[in-house]
Amino acid sequence: MRMVDIIHKKREGGTLTQEELDWLAAGAGDGSIPDYQLSALLMAIFFQGMSREETVGLTLSMARSGDMADLSPIPGVKVDKHSTGGVGDKTSLICGPMAAACGVKIAKMSGRGLGHTGGTVDKLESIPGLSMNIPRERFFQIVRETGIAIVGQSGSLCPADKKLYALRDVTAAVDSMPLIAASIMSKKLASGADAILLDVKTGSGALLKSPEEAQTLARLMVDTGNGAGRRTAALITDMDAPLGRCIGNALEVREAVEVLSGRGEERLTALCEELAAGMVRLAGLAENQQQALDMARESVHSGAALAALKGMVCAQGGDAACLEDTSKLAVSPVCVEAAIPESGYISGLNAELCGRAAMELGAGRERKEDSIDYGAGIVLLKTRGEPVRQGEPFARLYAQTEAQCRRAQEQLLAALDITKERPPERPLILARIGLD
Ligand code: URA
Repeated sequence: MRMVDIIHKKREGGTLTQEELDWLAAGAGDGSIPDYQLSALLMAIFFQGMSREETVGLTLSMARSGDMADLSPIPGVKVDKHSTGGVGDKTSLICGPMAAACGVKIAKMSGRGLGHTGGTVDKLESIPGLSMNIPRERFFQIVRETGIAIVGQSGSLCPADKKLYALRDVTAAVDSMPLIAASIMSKKLASGADAILLDVKTGSGALLKSPEEAQTLARLMVDTGNGAGRRTAALITDMDAPLGRCIGNALEVREAVEVLSGRGEERLTALCEELAAGMVRLAGLAENQQQALDMARESVHSGAALAALKGMVCAQGGDAACLEDTSKLAVSPVCVEAAIPESGYISGLNAELCGRAAMELGAGRERKEDSIDYGAGIVLLKTRGEPVRQGEPFARLYAQTEAQCRRAQEQLLAALDITKERPPERPLILARIGLD
């Protein structure tokens, strides 16, 4: 097979065969196909698109380019959950333990944050002692005993995606629907879960800004997962403003504990209940949405969900005392309070700009190799929809230096839109796919 023929075929709008897809994913993964030819193919796919069957085929080939996890030593239905990325999105730390407390088995592999969006690995690593690098047998044992374990993605997971994603990033080919779907779903398939719940974000902080694009991507990923033999469903949810009140790793762990203690912010709590209920339904543990939601809520009221998080943290070597007393979690030494610049209602709080402000504070990374400050971040004292008065406290910013706080404060204030009239409420869940 010759790469130049595959590029030519796609450039002319042809459909690649499974054999061709397998060959090119293997070559991307093992480095035998040069970057310039892969880049040319990615651009041809960007313009010509891919059929649904081709997208499923590419996803499977990419998944098989590395290790495919076999979770069969864990009894029960294993359900994974994936968010397409957001600001203040700590939902995995909340809906995971809720679903685990309801009997779902969660053996999850997560990623680090990049750019303005955060990652579950960084949030969990802000808990002193906690390891995300757990040997396979121990990982399985933790899931069997506590219902949930979350580890980092191993280096041998989807090498084809690592190569193709890095090339897309530098060749302006990230926002292609089939390439996004194949990239995300190949990692989910290789992670081995029986069922997958996708949280596809839309709004200013999301990869895809419009609800229509999010819906198209969600439908494609659901079809891809189901086409590959995994039960897959999706929620399309709002990411126009940050989720919850905290942005930054240790701050978000603290907020997760608040929600699991029944004292969480309303929208964040509602989204986590929905996600946990979706996972419960995918596992076949509830007859309908209402029953699943009741189970998710009861897991918080009874304390079982918080106990599941504590069990996981302990088993992964973390200091669970930090969850009993969250003031023990890291907090950066300098704190600056930003004030509301004018009276009215907060009609917008641009999530991407908030995420960039958190990066400025040291809570996120621009490049993969950058280090982060676990105690840095933002606590929003006011958020979208709320009435505000000029001069009252808007947010607390935490960082290592005053200069970082001042720069971030400017960005955070630029994220803020204030109007005289109360803005209409934005729906939290825009659509459900595969959960009716
Ligand atoms: N996240 C991924 O893992 N891949 C993409 O292509 C986009 C977001």
